[in-house]
Amino acid sequence: MLIKRSPNGVDIPFASEITPKHIFESRRSFIRQVAVGSIAGGALLEMATRQALAQNAARKLAGKPNPAYPMMDRQSAYKDATTYNNFYEFGTDKSDPAKYAGSLKTRPWSIAIEGEVKKPMTLDLDSLLKLAPLEERIYRLRCVEGWSMVIPWVGYSLSALIKKVEPTGNAKFIEFVTLADPKQMPGLRSPVLDWPYVEGLRIDEAHHPLALLTFGMYGEVLPNQNGAPVRIVLPWKYGFKSAKSIVKIRFVNEQPKTAWNIAAPQEYGFYANVNPEVDHPRWSQASERRIGEDSFFTRKRKTLMFNGYSEVASLYAGMDLKKLF
Ligand code: MTE
Repeated sequence: MLIKRSPNGVDIPFASEITPKHIFESRRSFIRQVAVGSIAGGALLEMATRQALAQNAARKLAGKPNPAYPMMDRQSAYKDATTYNNFYEFGTDKSDPAKYAGSLKTRPWSIAIEGEVKKPMTLDLDSLLKLAPLEERIYRLRCVEGWSMVIPWVGYSLSALIKKVEPTGNAKFIEFVTLADPKQMPGLRSPVLDWPYVEGLRIDEAHHPLALLTFGMYGEVLPNQNGAPVRIVLPWKYGFKSAKSIVKIRFVNEQPKTAWNIAAPQEYGFYANVNPEVDHPRWSQASERRIGEDSFFTRKRKTLMFNGYSEVASLYAGMDLKKLF
């Protein structure tokens, strides 16, 4: 494995290290497909991107600052948070979502809530936005690839939505399903994941007040590349658990099969709690680069257990987090 050493001895990973191998390899073919696919199609996509991003940028979405989640570190720059993204439905390169997610149509939008609930329902975006008061919460988000950001999100606890649909006693887990529309999402041409993107939580994790159903960031509606119009944010877990652009929420009895767990079970566990003591097979989880601070001379930050959100620890009492990673 190639390691580039900076003058202060901090290891700088190469792109091929930050990215799982099968994804790194499929990236070339994705870029070729988008480039060669059709020049006219590409131009249209880019026009749609510019229009949609301009529309979204104009839409303010305020949340009442919740003092329980204050700024613990310096907030990441909006530009970093919106141009360095993982949203594989739009390509595997960090800059792809900002380039291509403009083709995502975020209105009308609804979430179908089904499975083990007494009141299954489909809620449109306006009903979702009215379900509980919007709060602004500043959360760290730590990616398993070894980087992190600090972002002011706008949303409310997922538990408000769970309460409305009244889960039955059989609802042991909850599953989030992302939109998978190849017409809007060019990344679906690549078989890098088993589409649609599915993530899940145990029901008590989903009830934890930290789990945020999220509609905005930095006082504005979510940019498409960050998972518009509605996503989940789970700050004590690696970023891949925080599914974007959700169209379905299912309450189920069995642990859901999640997209990353299907793709590489030895690398991506179901729990995915941030844990500096359990390394990913290819990347240490002991420290992280804060995006925006990553000059040659900046030391990495120490990664904290549960990403610093120790209030979730009781959810995992008695569990072996080395096995259930
Ligand atoms: N959700 C969907 N649908 N598709 C994705 O590829 N990537 C995940 C997560 N949610 C992803 C997703 C990963 S790996 C991370 S780190 C976060 O989104 C990134 O969120 P951000 O771009 O808002 O920082």
